[in-house]
This record gives sequence, structure tokens and C-alpha cells, in this order.
Amino acid sequence: MILAGDVGGTKTALALFEVRRRALAVVRESVLPSHGFAALTDAIRQFLLEGSPAPIEAACFGVAGPVIDGRCTAVNLPWEVDEASLAAAVSTPRVKLVNDLEATGHGVLGLPASALATLQPGEPRKATMALIAAGTGLGEVLLVWDGRRHRVVSSEGGHADFAPRTDFIDLFGPQSYQPFAVADALLSLKLCDAARLQIDCVDINERVVAHLQSLRRRGEVTLSILSGVSDGAGRALSEDYKDYFRNLGSSVGRESAINVPPDMASHLKKSLRIGPEVTGKINADRLNIITERFERSDGSTPNYDLVVVTNVFPYFKPTELLFALTNISEMLAEGGYLIHNELQTIPSFFITPLGLPLRQARTVLIASSESMPLFDGVAIHQKAKK
Ligand SMILES: C[S@@+](CC[C@H](N)C(=O)[O-])C[C@H]1O[C@@H](n2cnc3c(N)ncnc32)[C@H](O)[C@@H]1O
Repeated sequence: MILAGDVGGTKTALALFEVRRRALAVVRESVLPSHGFAALTDAIRQFLLEGSPAPIEAACFGVAGPVIDGRCTAVNLPWEVDEASLAAAVSTPRVKLVNDLEATGHGVLGLPASALATLQPGEPRKATMALIAAGTGLGEVLLVWDGRRHRVVSSEGGHADFAPRTDFIDLFGPQSYQPFAVADALLSLKLCDAARLQIDCVDINERVVAHLQSLRRRGEVTLSILSGVSDGAGRALSEDYKDYFRNLGSSVGRESAINVPPDMASHLKKSLRIGPEVTGKINADRLNIITERFERSDGSTPNYDLVVVTNVFPYFKPTELLFALTNISEMLAEGGYLIHNELQTIPSFFITPLGLPLRQARTVLIASSESMPLFDGVAIHQKAKK
């Protein structure tokens, strides 16, 4: 009789097999909760006692974790597992402990075609294969083709999580602050008359554009503004940032309080109701800034006084960045400004021939902390006069 086990963080599957006509046949199997036993050997003993006694000739266990020198301390398991104590529990010296994906690697090689499902059709070849198993952790194993057969090479892909662990805040529906923040800054700093204000938003993504276009149609919109950072253990928001947040929106909307879950109480928050006198000044269109320049409906190219680009340039390769800067430069009026927040990205040999010299660059402290202060940056270029 052969005993096989698949030992996972949640459950342990055990099965007894017999060799019949050179193939393995299941004699008895059971699935036990891993956390219901103090040790794997206890689970094995219970399983063996449940059926009629039969000597075990060999046993193999796949365990979710790295196996080193026949021993495994798994992250998601309540047990330390080792070959010596397993051998004593099943009364045979022929015991092997392997990583669970290594065991699956041997297992898939024995599966009939009827047990396989095609996810994406391709040309079957005798070649190295990769096996990926998304369970409590992310298991990965290689089946290396050595010219005659596959050799299973165990690996630990790491106990990777699929969901982000960063402080993502997903309390509200899709929103766009950027055109409002720009309008608010221009009006509150008295850099623009409300009557002259006109904002064109461009993005390559149609859904972003559709959302921005809906602002004008809706007339009145309510933004729910919640800071991603908060005063917390070992971190303090800068007075500048608090001031900015306090004043944000005062020139474009009416402010009111906002309710957030208790664990967000220390975040800065407010709601802002913005009327048609502002949303009516926002146009939006699809544009690839690398290959296109914005055109008005009458076919003219705008002469912008200001172009604001945040969190876009880092996605571009150097040549794409050069094309994008060329297009932006062509759309700027003489003396107009480009403001962006990528202090490291733009080499000076790009912007000098484009006539977009850097006028100012600085970092802004958002939150101070001994170990991880949070900064943003701003760079201002001005289109040279011809
Ligand atoms: C990280 S978001 C930044 C959005 C916004 N500016 C901000 O700071 O919150 C980057 C945006 O750039 C857009 N984008 C990427 N490549 C682009 C391109 N070649 N032309 C125009 N927009 C592009 C994406 O669709 C996305 O909406």
C-alpha cells in the first residue's frame, strides 16, 4: 500500500493507493482540517485507524512550503513536518517529503488528456513547462525537459498576495479632481479671470474622456475629497499640505462636511459642490499626446497659456517623452507654461532645443516622518519667445 498526502494550510488530503496493472488505484481517501490536529502525524494516525490495517510500503507528502533536508516549517501551517517523524508514524523508512507544487509537477505528468482544459490554444511541444498554482500562496514549479523526460524542479515563488496591501481608498465612485484643482488654483491665485477660463482635458483612455465629458452634461457635480495620507503614528502632515487642503476648492465650489468610516477619521476630508459655471468650462477629448496635438472643432491648434501634466511622463520611453514634449511645446503660446511633477524625468538636452527652458523646480513636503517622509515635486517650464 502507498500512502500519499497533500498538506495545505487549510486542509490535508490523504489517500491510500495500490498498484494494479502498473497503474495507481485509489483504495481509500479522506480530507481532514489541518488546524484540527496538533501534528501531521496525528492526522495520519487517525486516517490509518479509520480503515482496515494494511502495511505501508512507501509514503510521500506534498507540503505547502519550502522543504529543506527533509523538513518543512510552513508559513500557513500549524505544524513542523519532517521525514523522520513521518517514517515512524507510518512504519516504513521509504518516506519522502516534497514541496506541494513539486508533487503536483509529478502528478500532472501522469494525468490523462481528458483531465486537462485548454486556456489558450497553442502548438503542443516537448519542452520545458511551468506550473503555477494560486492557492493560499502562489506556488510555482518548473518541469524542465532534459531531452528524454521532464524533471521537476521545485521553487518557492514566494507567498505573494494578489490584492494590494497599500492604503487604497475605495469609498466613492470614479471622480476626477484634476480640472477642478487647476481651475481653483488659477482663480484663487488670480492668474485667470473666471470669464476667460477654459479647460481642455485630454487622455488616451476613452473611459477617462467619457467621464470628463459627462461633467459638463451633469452641470452640478459633488466631489468627495479624502486625503490618502493622514496624521498617524510617526508621521505628521505638513502645515503647507493642511493649508492647501483647507483652501482647496474655495474658488470653484461650496464646501460641506463628509462622513467616512471611523478608521479614516484622521484623514483630511470634505465634500465640494461645483456648479455649471465651472463644469461648463471643461471640455474633454481623446488624444495620444505622443502622436497627436489637440485640435479645436474649427480645426485650429490651441495656443495654451498653461499645460498641466501630472503622473504621466514616467510611463513614457525617452523617444515617446521627446515626442510628447514636442507636441506640448507646439500647443503652448509664447510665454506659456508647462507644469508637471516629474523632477527626475526630463533631461535638459530634450527641453533646450524645444524652447521649453526650466524656470523653477522644487519638492513639496506632504508629510514628515523619521523613516519615510512623503514629498511631491513640481517643475515649471516656460515656452520661449521666438
Ligand atoms: C496615472 S494617470 C494620471 C492622471 C492624472 N493626471 C493625475 O495626476 O491624477 C495617467 C493617465 O495618463 C493617460 N495616458 C497614458 N498615456 C497617454 C498618452 N500617450 N496620451 C494621453 N494620455 C495618456 C492614462 O490613460 C491615464 O489616465
